[in-house]
Amino acid sequence: MRLPMIAGNWKMNTTVSEAVELVSQVRKGLSGAYDVEVVVCPPFVSLVPVKEALKGTSIKLGAQNIYFEEKGAYTGEISPVMLVSLCEHVIIGHSERRQYFGDSNDVVNKKMGAALEAGLKPILCVGEKLEENEAGKTNDIVTGQLRSALAGLDCSGELVVAYEPIWAIGTGRAAHGKQVNDTIRIIRSTLAELYGQQMADEARVLYGGSVTADNIAEFMEQSEIDGALVGGASLKADQFTNIIRQTEEIFFPNNPPTKDLIPW
Ligand code: PGA
Repeated sequence: MRLPMIAGNWKMNTTVSEAVELVSQVRKGLSGAYDVEVVVCPPFVSLVPVKEALKGTSIKLGAQNIYFEEKGAYTGEISPVMLVSLCEHVIIGHSERRQYFGDSNDVVNKKMGAALEAGLKPILCVGEKLEENEAGKTNDIVTGQLRSALAGLDCSGELVVAYEPIWAIGTGRAAHGKQVNDTIRIIRSTLAELYGQQMADEARVLYGGSVTADNIAEFMEQSEIDGALVGGASLKADQFTNIIRQTEEIFFPNNPPTKDLIPW
């Protein structure tokens, strides 16, 4: 069974003190031994203080981006080797990076290679635009992004893919659970083609796009969806912890109530 993951993508939100406050509230709200893997991805400047604030918990930390070179004259950039001692995960290929910062499929592929080589665990984002969706091109776009992001890479280790239809991100218009499930089935069969069935069975594929505490259950009840990449709702501790609790209950219905579990 794949371990469910709920990851919070804070994007360009929170000052350092707000980030510490937010994660402290999340920590309090989750005072149980969760079987869901929880990841928070604050802005770079908050990675160190948030890491401090998470000490003694099993909440993991992720970055939102990297550059693909190891070091050098790349003003303003952060390399994977700088991050590997600070965090475990990194989001790569988010549609906002593709749209506003020119992260082409080729750049995404280089970033994936650099992350894997440095020992960071990528959360690779793929997803189609509204017009592509309406033209019935979702599967082609998503599998094309996946193939080019992974081209030439040995991805036999842990891979997390986040399927995020662009039209669902930040719009309040989430996709339908069933449709997402079908697309993720295609993603998994592409992974099987590339790396074999075992890797495809073990890779986690998340859904992202307007996930809230009100709609999380619809996604988590689908067989192929292993968790969520949450943007806006991850900035509200009560929403985010509620999303995690519901995920826990759906994946592990026989677990004792979390309030009875050993606190972190
Ligand atoms: P959203 O963002 O939950 O605010 O739609 C998701 C994402 O961009 O990862």
